[in-house]
Amino acid sequence: MKTVSITLLAGLAAVQAAPSPAVQTFTPSPGNFPAKGDGDYAGGIFSIPLSQLGQYAGSGTGTPTENPGSGQKTSGSGPYPAQMITDSSLPGHTIIAPKTPPGGNLSMPFIAWGNGACTLSTAPYQNFLVEIASHGYVIAADGLPSGGGASQSKVQDMRDSLEWAFAGKAAKYGNIDLTKVATAGHSCGGQEAMSVAYHDERVKRIMMFNIAIFQDDRRYLLQEIKVPVAYFIGGKSDMGYQGSSRDYPLLPSGLPKLLANLDTGHGGTYSATNGGKFGKAAVNYLEWQFRDNATAKAVILDPNSANSLVKDKWTVQSANWS
Ligand SMILES: *[C@@H]1O[C@H](CO)[C@@H](O)[C@H](O)[C@H]1NC(C)=O
Ligand SMILES: *[C@@H]1O[C@H](CO)[C@@H](O)[C@H](O)[C@H]1NC(C)=O
Repeated sequence: MKTVSITLLAGLAAVQAAPSPAVQTFTPSPGNFPAKGDGDYAGGIFSIPLSQLGQYAGSGTGTPTENPGSGQKTSGSGPYPAQMITDSSLPGHTIIAPKTPPGGNLSMPFIAWGNGACTLSTAPYQNFLVEIASHGYVIAADGLPSGGGASQSKVQDMRDSLEWAFAGKAAKYGNIDLTKVATAGHSCGGQEAMSVAYHDERVKRIMMFNIAIFQDDRRYLLQEIKVPVAYFIGGKSDMGYQGSSRDYPLLPSGLPKLLANLDTGHGGTYSATNGGKFGKAAVNYLEWQFRDNATAKAVILDPNSANSLVKDKWTVQSANWS
């Protein structure tokens, strides 16, 4: 958690130092739905203007009770030992995938990932992303394993990950199923994931980690979200808490949705061994959604099931799942 917090603060400092865009091209107003989610800021139309950052960064209250700490680097707990590497066919990004293509020609979903503060360093998420990949997923993340600096990812950076996969360039990592594609991210990276998924029918699931929309005047944009949304939030002290509580009821009627809270604050458990409880929650959600795994579904939705999220101290709300 310490690593994540430091990275976030560094990212936030970089944001504050960066120049504001000269012209605002998107003005939120009910009924104004831009064609694409790029907007004017890192993180896109679901993110915040630089001038409002300070106002929202401290919006959580209280002190989290879960303290995951930093864990060991592993190859993940899943059946396909995974790693984080770079690939010259997708510059400025990191690939997290099984070390060798899984046997049996296992079909693998594809995930595009964005980092907290939209930084260009995937390092804080290594344990978490390797854990997911070890269950048979290929992930392309914005930024480099040892990246950083003042620049931030843009919506187009995450979209580049999709273009890369849809051009067939992820095939070297195994059999990619392009009907099973998610965008996901932490904090600003989560807002970016929603902005990329907006009006892009290739994206089938959106996963928001410790974040939602900050500004009330942008929540109407949720009407254009057409695929299930899962929020994994860090409880009342998380700056994503208020926004996710407000966004969840505003998602289009009938849309399957999940809002899970664990009292970690904004930092989640990404740096714990195998991504800790957030890693476990993400894997089970994905296995349920993309592999129809009933046991994994019960872990998420049934408090009484063995290893349920509720037994891990998550509070879980959900609606509209069949
Ligand atoms: C793996 O499965 C895909 C379809 O899911 C198929 O197109 C491909 O030819 C298969 N590859 C091998 C080596 O069997
Ligand atoms: C289904 O998910 C459970 C719980 O995460 C896991 O233990 C099991 O191996 C999965 N089953 C299959 C067939 O992948």
